[in-house]
Amino acid sequence: MSLELKNVSMQFSNSENATLNEISLCVEPGEFVCIVGASGCGKSTLLNLIAGLLKPTSGEILLDGKKITGPGADRTVMFQDHGLYPWLNVIDNVKFGMKLAGVSKEEQEERALHYLKMVNLLEYRDYPIHQISGGMRQRTALARALTMDSSVLLMDEPFSALDKQTSNKLREELQRIWMETKRTILFITHSVEEAVYLGDRVVVLSADSQKKPHIVEIGLERPRHVYSPEFVELRHQILEEIRGEEI
Ligand SMILES: Nc1ncnc2c1ncn2[C@@H]1O[C@H](COP(=O)(O)OP(=O)(O)OP(=O)(O)O)[C@@H](O)[C@H]1O
Ligand SMILES: [Mg+2]
Repeated sequence: MSLELKNVSMQFSNSENATLNEISLCVEPGEFVCIVGASGCGKSTLLNLIAGLLKPTSGEILLDGKKITGPGADRTVMFQDHGLYPWLNVIDNVKFGMKLAGVSKEEQEERALHYLKMVNLLEYRDYPIHQISGGMRQRTALARALTMDSSVLLMDEPFSALDKQTSNKLREELQRIWMETKRTILFITHSVEEAVYLGDRVVVLSADSQKKPHIVEIGLERPRHVYSPEFVELRHQILEEIRGEEI
């Protein structure tokens, strides 16, 4: 599914300046686009606009040419906080969204097992949430997001609360899952390394909303090696751009 932002601006009524100013961006079906930028520059706002949870002050957002007017089954959001229900075990959390969406019990079971296998949690399906690690919780949330079968996945810093080793492992897994499932992914991160590792393109949002976002093509083969000279160069280039913008 293609996603197009046309001159999207967002000004909250209680703030003097626009948070986002005339953002335009085209995301191709199956593309992995990462968004980086300083804290407060409007990354989550942009994601919430695409999710349909907020309405832009001006401009429009199109999915396959159709204007977004609210949340829809074609998009699923995954937040930093996994949002799992502590009173449900792993598999029931994974099934929860499908249950609300009215998916039949057999189909719920089938899809839940399929995606639990994909995120390597099949053996933990009956565990209560408080007995699994932070990384496993994010994987549970990822499996739940994937079961919704929407072609666009919107991810807002899903791994940022995890330790470096766990988040590195999860980004590898996410890359593999993206390749297997061919979803279109918009991924927000404050880690430039994560963005260069995962993205086909990286959108660098400035803290100064008057400045147009800079879009960097990451033409590196996958899987990428964070210590390769090309990787280091791209990471350095993006870091330079947001230097002084407090990330
Ligand atoms: N619902 C809201 N009402 C008013 N202002 C808001 C609202 N949501 C966000 N803002 C403001 O918009 C700006 C951008 O916030 P946003 O959460 O999008 O930033 P961010 O880039 O995601 O930051 P972080 O990296 O810290 O998550 C901030 O100044 C914030 O105070
Ligand atoms: Mg945010």
